[in-house]
Amino acid sequence: MELNSEQLAMLNGEHGSAARKAMEILTALGEIYGAVDMVPVSSVQIAGVSYDNLGEAGLQFLFEMADGGGKARVLTTLNPAGMDVDNWEALGIDPLFAENQKRVIEAFERMGVVTTCTCTPYLSGNLPHYGEHIAWAESSAVCYANSVIGARTNREGGPSALAAALTGFTPRYGMHLDEDRSPTVTVEIAPTPANPSLTEDVRGDGSLRTMWFGALGKAIGEKLQGSEKKQVSYIEGIESASLEELKSFCASLATYGGTALFHMGGITPEAAVMTPPEQTIRVTQAEVESAQRSLGEAPSAKVDFVSLGCPHLSINEIAHLAELLDGKRVVKEFWITTARPTKHIADRMGYTKIIESSGATFAVDTCCVVAPIKGRFHTLATDSAKACYYATGKNNFKTRIMPFDDVVREAVGEGPGN
Ligand code: F3S
Repeated sequence: MELNSEQLAMLNGEHGSAARKAMEILTALGEIYGAVDMVPVSSVQIAGVSYDNLGEAGLQFLFEMADGGGKARVLTTLNPAGMDVDNWEALGIDPLFAENQKRVIEAFERMGVVTTCTCTPYLSGNLPHYGEHIAWAESSAVCYANSVIGARTNREGGPSALAAALTGFTPRYGMHLDEDRSPTVTVEIAPTPANPSLTEDVRGDGSLRTMWFGALGKAIGEKLQGSEKKQVSYIEGIESASLEELKSFCASLATYGGTALFHMGGITPEAAVMTPPEQTIRVTQAEVESAQRSLGEAPSAKVDFVSLGCPHLSINEIAHLAELLDGKRVVKEFWITTARPTKHIADRMGYTKIIESSGATFAVDTCCVVAPIKGRFHTLATDSAKACYYATGKNNFKTRIMPFDDVVREAVGEGPGN
């Protein structure tokens, strides 16, 4: 790999041991993926923040980097942690875990990382522009950044994202290259979303078809998984999609298809300069319905845990949630997961007061997947296809997927899982 004088100085230890280690990680990655050089990045997002995932070995690595003079050179934020950093007791988090999680956050703070813990950094001040090279790690955010924003990022691991933060560079391969961003297959959605039973949660502006888009992401993702190479799809047939729908779709497509980039005709920015490939696959409404059914693996189970906010809720979703919960009482554990800056806006708008008066709990900085709650509940109700995947695989929960508004009905004892 060609390195410039600044990168060579880092590799030679002239900027301290942390920068040297970081450059070693990046050059090794670059060699593996055949990168010819490095590209400067302007934004980083680091995953693997929960102590549940990191463990003591991961924490020691962070302390070594902080002790070695590691300092973020570009705007860097974090993925969700294992708990609400300020309000962990309300979530029933073990004090020892909380202690260790705080040590993780402290290590990042020492390195100048902005400790906003969210999988939707683009809603909380870490918003790249079209064509910008970045190094993000959270799969749903990577898919959103590449596809919806048109920024350029591979899916980084925790160490490579940190290395990019401490050096300001990442190896130039994959999603950073024009040739790897061209669509390889056209995906025709037929018919366009019209089934009222799937879209009954649509408000006038269509902002809450999150469940339908999650099911669509699963249906497409599984078809793409079957192909030999990593496919970049050009999706046709979606007439409109809100920010919330796209974040749900990205989370699901990345989970079930390992997808870092798609183009959506008339909706995502690069679609306008791309030609849909001749090779076409179709996804029917029936297949989306079948994907949806497969996500609700416990159709008759009693729900004992309800969560909205995978990916983290936008302020628009929280406003809608406050409307739905106004004057109601929840009858089961209900976590609202979002980023702290979004919660601050909710506080100002009075949404927090309404939501908390219902008995629901804000679980800020974290989510129902990365928090250490394995086995604590039996059946989760959610609108998120991604949450279903991990709730089952990581936390041993059964799942019921339903539209956003129905999840709220479930929480207040008016849903079918009561
Ligand atoms: Fe975010 Fe947790 Fe879902 S990190 S995408 S809310 S699994």
